[in-house]
Amino acid sequence: MTRLKTSLIALTFFIGFFVHADEGMWFLMFIERLNQRDMEKMGLQLTADEIYSINHSSLKDAVVQFNGGCTAEIISKDGLILTNHHCGFGAIAELSTPANDYLTNGWWASKREDEMKPKSLYVRFFVRMDDVSKRILDKVNGTMTESEREKIIKEEIAAIEKENSENGKYTVSVRSFFQGNEYYYFVYQDYKDVRLVGTPPNSIGKFGGDTDNWEWPRHTGDFSMFRVYADSLGNPAEFSSTNVPLQPKHHLPVNIKGVQEGDFAMILGYPGRTNRWLPASGINQNVKFAYPAWVEASKTAMDAMKIHMAKDPATRLKYDSKYASIANYWKNRAGMIEALTKFKTAKSKAKNEQAFNNWANEPTHKEKYGKVVATINSFYDATNDKSRHDNYLSILFRSSAFATISRSLGPQIQAYERAKEEDKAIALQTLKIAVTDFYASISLQAEKDILAAGLSLYLAKANFPVVPSIELALMAVKNDMNLFIDNLFKNSVFETYEKLLAYLDNSNGMAISDDPLMSFSTNMIAHLNQRTDASFAQQNEFLRAYRLLVEGLRESGLATIEYPDANSTLRLTYGKVSALPKDKRNDAVTNYYTTLQGAINKYKPNDAEFDLPKRLMELNDAKDFGEYADKNGYMPVNFLTNNDITGGNSGSPVLNGKGELIGLAFDGNIEAMAGDVIFDDLLQKTINVDIRYVLFIIDKYAGAKHIVDEMTIIR
Ligand code: ARG
Repeated sequence: MTRLKTSLIALTFFIGFFVHADEGMWFLMFIERLNQRDMEKMGLQLTADEIYSINHSSLKDAVVQFNGGCTAEIISKDGLILTNHHCGFGAIAELSTPANDYLTNGWWASKREDEMKPKSLYVRFFVRMDDVSKRILDKVNGTMTESEREKIIKEEIAAIEKENSENGKYTVSVRSFFQGNEYYYFVYQDYKDVRLVGTPPNSIGKFGGDTDNWEWPRHTGDFSMFRVYADSLGNPAEFSSTNVPLQPKHHLPVNIKGVQEGDFAMILGYPGRTNRWLPASGINQNVKFAYPAWVEASKTAMDAMKIHMAKDPATRLKYDSKYASIANYWKNRAGMIEALTKFKTAKSKAKNEQAFNNWANEPTHKEKYGKVVATINSFYDATNDKSRHDNYLSILFRSSAFATISRSLGPQIQAYERAKEEDKAIALQTLKIAVTDFYASISLQAEKDILAAGLSLYLAKANFPVVPSIELALMAVKNDMNLFIDNLFKNSVFETYEKLLAYLDNSNGMAISDDPLMSFSTNMIAHLNQRTDASFAQQNEFLRAYRLLVEGLRESGLATIEYPDANSTLRLTYGKVSALPKDKRNDAVTNYYTTLQGAINKYKPNDAEFDLPKRLMELNDAKDFGEYADKNGYMPVNFLTNNDITGGNSGSPVLNGKGELIGLAFDGNIEAMAGDVIFDDLLQKTINVDIRYVLFIIDKYAGAKHIVDEMTIIR
């Protein structure tokens, strides 16, 4: 039996390996064992040790997590970093004013001293990782309740984090994989002095806007550049004019020889979240309840924001970044609903779960696994309506700054209120900075409208018990939403910057928790997080069942994949440069690349999404591409690979077999939006900026050749 099982696992593994060479987000520490041979066959010329080593410099030292949500890479010995334009967008917006609008006009530092420091921006270097599954799981057993189990694991995690942090030098994070069946720790080092080096204008960096977002063919120069600074010893330091550019352990050489279909391509980066192990009933919940609410609430917020953004440039700069990130996932989730429905993903998953359930109910497995599938299904049945409700509310929180005021400014104000008399002056100083930043980032009228629109939608569509205090307050004003909102602000110290400052200087004995806007926000968040004993117990039952499902799928050989879901930890994916086959939605181009001429074919003068700078078109007319043109004469813009990435990989380096930079990953394609749940061998692609386009824009378009000269170029 055991032998049969082992060979069954080996067989699945073997088949899986050849069918899905491009599928998988792999751990760097296992490459030698799991992927090396396959990668070599496809074109890798590095050893596993040259990709990930804890003893000497390796590729991993040139890949950083960018500001918590994206990826970036080091491309010079002076700490120059490259990431996407949409990853740097928030920082660029923050540094912009209507008079110096770098989003609209682009900007390049002509010397180091000009490089600009946004308020908070950090990059995270990966030092090492290790497996602590045994250490943690030896401490727990199957008879414990989930709460007991969680408590013990938490304690062990805290100990591991402490042991490896070297007294705060490193950030250590222990994460669970395979739904709690494995644990690894990750050691990181954060650098906080990160400065803007340059950015193309929106008309290049965000060319095509939301219309082209998630689409192929694509013509976007989605890149921006920053630099990491350190103290004179190379250690992380707060911003200071005496800081110097970091001398990294490794920087990526840049290869401008060009890419061909079939070329090996690998990507290292920080994929945020996939749900490849999600059960069928979970997919159904997302498709029918959660995502439709997400999509509708996002659209409502976007419409409200857009009206105010169109009114004046200062408001546009305030909301550009928030708008773009809501719009990004609005289109993504709509695409997921469509793709998951079209490909009947839940149905094929359910079939596999049926096979698992048969295995699970064989006499030898029944005790441990017999109820797993039933428990999971009844959990989703019971939470479908709540998931819709929760999504309406969560998107409201994402779009309205005042809905979450109890989470943002609230705790800081309360800390100030609680501070000892002698500490108050200092506390007030830092608090005032936060308050100033908050009011600088919003427009009051826009916020009122965003909140009114989101709240109206929530009350009308949640189809579930809504926040009771809001229902009552609205009844008192005969359900007049605008009156309700006006009163809420009028009676609150948060109504204006001046009012809040006056309150902080003299509260007249009122506690901030009694403020109507503050308690409105507190009540909403509490309502979202509310759990009854029964729902808490059911949630725990579900977590246990999901963990057992994954364990059982792996044990039975019925698992369809061999790698853990993405969770913002460093992964490698490998495959090749590859074209998207023609299908009904995408019949324009079957190429694996697009060209500058293609961008110009989309050009619409003065359009918010498809305008192009004159200078770029002149360069194209003159075929003045410098050394960056393809040998066939065209200027490449974007290309496709069949790598397996997701959100968070944005800005990741695309590398050839020698570990040289050939592109910059920035998007996925709408045909494969089911990809976070199931990898599609035929349709799933990564959309990349060709590195030659990046260099062409910097050198020929922006005239910032000194920045290209910093790099190690392979010609
Ligand atoms: N789809 C891209 C990603 O998730 C983001 C692109 C941002 N551009 C935009 N038009 N909203 O990485």
